[in-house]
Amino acid sequence: MWQIVFWLCMYTVATWAQFPRQCVSPEVLRSGTCCPSPTGLANDECGLRSGRGRCMPVVADKRPHGPQYPHDGRDDRERWPLRFFNRTCQCNTKFSGYNCGRCRYGLSGVNCDQKITDMLGKPTFALPYWNFAIGGNECEICTDDMLGARSNFDVNSISSNSVFSQWRVICEDVEEYETLGTICNSTEGGPIRRNPGGNVAQPMLQKLPENEDIIDCLELKMFDTPPYYSTSAWSFRNTIEGYSTPKGKYDLKVRSLHNLAHLFLNGTGGQTHVSPNDPIFVLLHSFTDAIFDEWLRRHHPGTVFYPKQNAPIGHNWRFNMVPFWPPVTNGEMFASAQDRLGYSYEVQWPTRAYTVSEIITIVIVAVVLAVMVVVGSTACVIRVLVSREGLEPLLVEHLHRY
Ligand SMILES: *[C@@H]1O[C@H](CO)[C@@H](O)[C@H](O)[C@H]1NC(C)=O
Ligand SMILES: *[C@@H]1O[C@H](CO)[C@@H](O)[C@H](O)[C@H]1NC(C)=O
Ligand SMILES: *[C@@H]1O[C@H](CO)[C@@H](O)[C@H](O)[C@H]1NC(C)=O
Repeated sequence: MWQIVFWLCMYTVATWAQFPRQCVSPEVLRSGTCCPSPTGLANDECGLRSGRGRCMPVVADKRPHGPQYPHDGRDDRERWPLRFFNRTCQCNTKFSGYNCGRCRYGLSGVNCDQKITDMLGKPTFALPYWNFAIGGNECEICTDDMLGARSNFDVNSISSNSVFSQWRVICEDVEEYETLGTICNSTEGGPIRRNPGGNVAQPMLQKLPENEDIIDCLELKMFDTPPYYSTSAWSFRNTIEGYSTPKGKYDLKVRSLHNLAHLFLNGTGGQTHVSPNDPIFVLLHSFTDAIFDEWLRRHHPGTVFYPKQNAPIGHNWRFNMVPFWPPVTNGEMFASAQDRLGYSYEVQWPTRAYTVSEIITIVIVAVVLAVMVVVGSTACVIRVLVSREGLEPLLVEHLHRY
């Protein structure tokens, strides 16, 4: 396994990888230390001399993960990234990157002392999202000028007027990888399949989540609850994921929110291992992230409801997230995007419509108030009239005395 992953890393480095190029030579790999110098600052590990960061032992939490994962001790991602490196750069607050040569998200300038609100230096940079919580059985974004309409010739295919009809799926031979122990090698497979709302065998999956579902899940107070898994009840995490009702009640048969949006697509986007092949994946996930971000902003959660141990492998508070480099823990990312990543979401969040009993209560209160105002003001008018009549003789009398 170690060798396969090693070669995979060597192979992917040629393109885009989690490990920096400077760190994958045999000597560096043998040393276990990945602490390059920032570009332009030769022999300055992690920019130590310029106050950017320092080379430090990797901290990988030892607390146990839960029993949900059956391949304990056989997965190179366990206690990431110790299988590969045990020393990496640790950057000071304003800096980031594998060599601390970059500014933290949201900052810019030579000394990373300017705030920026734009990403990649482009003020107009933004990611689109798909608000899937609109109910009904239409995929609004499945048009040829967006993510591709349905083909007129095959309900499961994308129209040939869309560029996405030419995209090919990779990494679909999951059984083969499992049985032969091989790894996906980017060989192209068939086209993207998609039949939004078309799963006639499972009517529950033919309808998108409702607006109301978002309101409900945003009200959940606990981030997660034991057993920190797809069976957790009253857990915001499990609810937004879509394994419980939007109000948080666990039910084996329910699929809601994020899961329901995937399954609604009834095709490539609805199968866990290949779903990222359908570009809708990105839009579906930006919206899911936006809901998470809104939840963080509304609840300002402490760390109480975040599992410190016994979460599925890789998910404890202090576990490093795979494959991010340099290592970053789940806990460090448990903050709003505005605070942690320097960007924000532009979403109009739905508010709850009044229920019939609420409307009746409001009407009753309004009527009572109106009656009180009428009665009250009538009483005042009478009082003023009465007091005017009664006041004059007194005043006159009073004046008479002086
Ligand atoms: C770090 O990794 C290197 C290379 O694998 C190894 O020789 C060294 O003993 C490790 N150090 C610690 C503290 O684990
Ligand atoms: C790549 O993967 C495919 C599908 O798993 C397999 O058929 C093919 O032989 C592999 N090619 C190479 C060069 O390993
Ligand atoms: C799509 O729906 C059909 C008909 O209900 C079903 O048989 C099929 O398994 C679904 N495919 C996916 C990938 O969800």
